[in-house]
Amino acid sequence: MEKYVIRGGAKLSGEVVVSGAKNAVVAIIPATILSDEPCVIENIPNISDVTITLQIMQEMGAKIRMLNKTTVEIDPRSLMNMSIPYEKAKLMRATTYFLGTLLGRFHSAHVSMPGGCNLGDRPIDQHLKCFSALGAQCEIDGGMINLRADKLVGNQIFFDKNSVGATINGIMAAVKAEGLTVIENAAKEPHVVDLANCLNSMGADIIGAGTDVIKIRGVRELHGTTYSVIPDQIEAGTFMAAAAATRSNILIRNVIPKHLEPITNKLLKIGVQVEQYDDAVRVIGGDNYVGTTIKTQPHPGFPTDMQPQMSAVLTCAKGASMVTESIFDNRFRYVDELRRMGANISVEGRVAVIEGVERLKGAPVKSTDLRAGAALIVAALSAEGTSEIYDIFHVERGYENMEIKLRGLGADIRKINEPDPVSDPVVKKAI
Ligand code: UD1
Repeated sequence: MEKYVIRGGAKLSGEVVVSGAKNAVVAIIPATILSDEPCVIENIPNISDVTITLQIMQEMGAKIRMLNKTTVEIDPRSLMNMSIPYEKAKLMRATTYFLGTLLGRFHSAHVSMPGGCNLGDRPIDQHLKCFSALGAQCEIDGGMINLRADKLVGNQIFFDKNSVGATINGIMAAVKAEGLTVIENAAKEPHVVDLANCLNSMGADIIGAGTDVIKIRGVRELHGTTYSVIPDQIEAGTFMAAAAATRSNILIRNVIPKHLEPITNKLLKIGVQVEQYDDAVRVIGGDNYVGTTIKTQPHPGFPTDMQPQMSAVLTCAKGASMVTESIFDNRFRYVDELRRMGANISVEGRVAVIEGVERLKGAPVKSTDLRAGAALIVAALSAEGTSEIYDIFHVERGYENMEIKLRGLGADIRKINEPDPVSDPVVKKAI
């Protein structure tokens, strides 16, 4: 059982380089299934969600070759249409992308209902609505989502809910469908645009990604590509939050500053300085911050995936802050853990009110999901004393070498492997 041990209080300094975007790469790797030739994907992060995605592809028969640490060659020609069972699907939500891509290539797909972070109710009705509109029959049987179509034909699809996953799945299923598909109320997140750019580099005809309306004209074939994944907006934002919370001055490289604007704007508002360069941002923490209001929104609004980390920063801002989570109905599970560190936060439904305290104090805490784990790291770095963060497998799903990168910035963080107490025969006997 691995945990991070963090002694808080150290000022961060120097530079950190952000890795490729998790949420883009977990769509782009399955998208290569639609290609009739090998594809080379660059700037892939070394995180467990990528390992799992590549493993699934390999088990289905794709030939996977790492060309270097961040570049993978995927030859999907020998890939067979196999079911993706619960053991794999429960590990990450993005296994749903195999639905769109397998349907697009084989006109059928069988994927277990997905897992991923527990953020509350996460239905897939909009994904299914899209597949049906393109001509697929969809049924859920024994926890499996089964899709089958004689042929896929383009259609007009209006999403009732702005969904990243449904937009990505819609694009993948429509890329080789006959005729024109129009997706309205599409998600505009940077990773949706990145997927569309990657598919276009393979010969797809997708326009409008990054706006509310995406038009996809079906093509017969897709060819190989060499494509570099965008930098991770949320990893960059997490380092920005870490610099702010520890009142430090760091340069964060390999970023697209435009993608960071909603985060930058909130940091500026509370009293953090942010300097923007072509592909880097410098964050300079201040001595005193003021509380603010945050409401998570689809892009270009404030990202829900930064809500926990930003709340961690606000725990020590002067006055009250109000954080409204409007995307997911259960994204405050980290609050109990922050309270263990002395934060003063009350939660009522989807709203958290944070009363700033002077200082957090180190404590043993547990990651409840990926971004919750990131928030606890931010809090622990700024806290007085030592924190132990458990269940860091969540963090490793989405952050490459988090503790190594933070140590490079001067943080006092170690990853420790200790025996799981429940596997200890003495403890086992006692419980
Ligand atoms: C993606 C991101 C996740 C991020 C989230 C919101 C990936 C792999 N994950 O998740 O990190 O937190 O976007 O930016 O990219 N919904 C429905 N019906 C559906 C689909 C979604 O009601 O069929 C609802 C969800 O319950 C949620 C909202 O729509 O309330 C947004 O979800 P969605 O954008 O689909 O999130 P994911 O794609 O799962």
